[in-house]
Amino acid sequence: MDERFTDTHLNMADQQTEFTLRPQHLDEYIGQKDVTDNLKIYIEAAKKRHEPLDHVLFYGPPGLGKTTLAGIIANELGVDIRITSGPAIGRAGDLAAILTNLNENDVLFIDEIHRLNRSVEEVLYSAMEDYAIDIIIGKGPSARSIRLDLAKFTLIGATTRAGSLSAPLRDRFGVLSKFDLYTVDELKTILRRTAGLLDVEADEASLLEMAKRSRGTPRVANRFLKRIRDFAQVKGEGVIDTDITKLALSAMGVDDEGLEALDREVLRTIIERFGGGPVGIDTIAASVGEERVTIEDAHEPYLIQAGFLHRSQKGRIASAKAYRHLGIALPENLEREEQLSMDENN
Ligand SMILES: Nc1ncnc2c1ncn2[C@@H]1O[C@H](COP(=O)(O)OP(=O)(O)O)[C@@H](O)[C@H]1O
Ligand SMILES: [Mg+2]
Repeated sequence: MDERFTDTHLNMADQQTEFTLRPQHLDEYIGQKDVTDNLKIYIEAAKKRHEPLDHVLFYGPPGLGKTTLAGIIANELGVDIRITSGPAIGRAGDLAAILTNLNENDVLFIDEIHRLNRSVEEVLYSAMEDYAIDIIIGKGPSARSIRLDLAKFTLIGATTRAGSLSAPLRDRFGVLSKFDLYTVDELKTILRRTAGLLDVEADEASLLEMAKRSRGTPRVANRFLKRIRDFAQVKGEGVIDTDITKLALSAMGVDDEGLEALDREVLRTIIERFGGGPVGIDTIAASVGEERVTIEDAHEPYLIQAGFLHRSQKGRIASAKAYRHLGIALPENLEREEQLSMDENN
């Protein structure tokens, strides 16, 4: 299978270096100010009261630093973190085992928390609210339920979509934090830090080029830097400059706007097969032969933010920018729209 360079999900190569690149403390964590400013206060307050931090829900596209921030929170609180994920907890008993092993004020991190199954989720309700769980002992008529007290803990849940969490689960989080795509400046700062950690030399112009094409996502930015370092070692003197950067990115199929093959395919499909839209996400997914969630979670947020795509009630619409980027002539209605908005701005 060919590797997709802008894939925002973890791959094998990432997992090896990821832990060394993850910031450990809040002051090393770049961006997401709305999220971290509030958390700083809550952490401070929880420490003063010697109580666990309120349960926290992180939501936003993959690769934006949710797992990283969960680790930092545990660090700042001076407690242990237990990391698991929705799909990994198959049965209520699995969750019970995890919960009963937590110590006072510990952090339990559940990634992809929207994928917990119902029976597991129900155990979580009382655990979050009362720090207790009810477990059933025995079978049939002799079965009885006993209540087990837990250590007070903090649940940090992460999800790519807050909307697919059930209301009772969502309501049990005291803090809901939305992660936004990073600015080019922030990505450049992250890249500079990563270059330092990897001990690779890269000039400012190259870092800027990478940042611009990283679709607002630190995981993508770091992956680019690692691959470009390979190119620099093989094709150059080991130092990263803009020539090497551009060469490597185009070899990876990443264009000037940071779009990769699938992004362009999505836009091209909307334009060429569905008259520019509106067209439903399921139809798009089927046409390009990709899973809907992949497009929705990992590709669409950037396409929308960068102005290639609009979302309406009726479906997705390609913007004038998308036509221009793909070198396709603008249809009349878009041309008129553009003219109007230009007139408005003058
Ligand atoms: N704010 C940040 N500052 C520095 N590096 C970051 C930041 N956010 C993410 N990263 C880097 O991006 C990578 C992906 O972050 P991660 O926490 O795994 O994202 P998520 O859990 O949201 O998918 C991490 O290895 C980390 O090095
Ligand atoms: Mg994660």
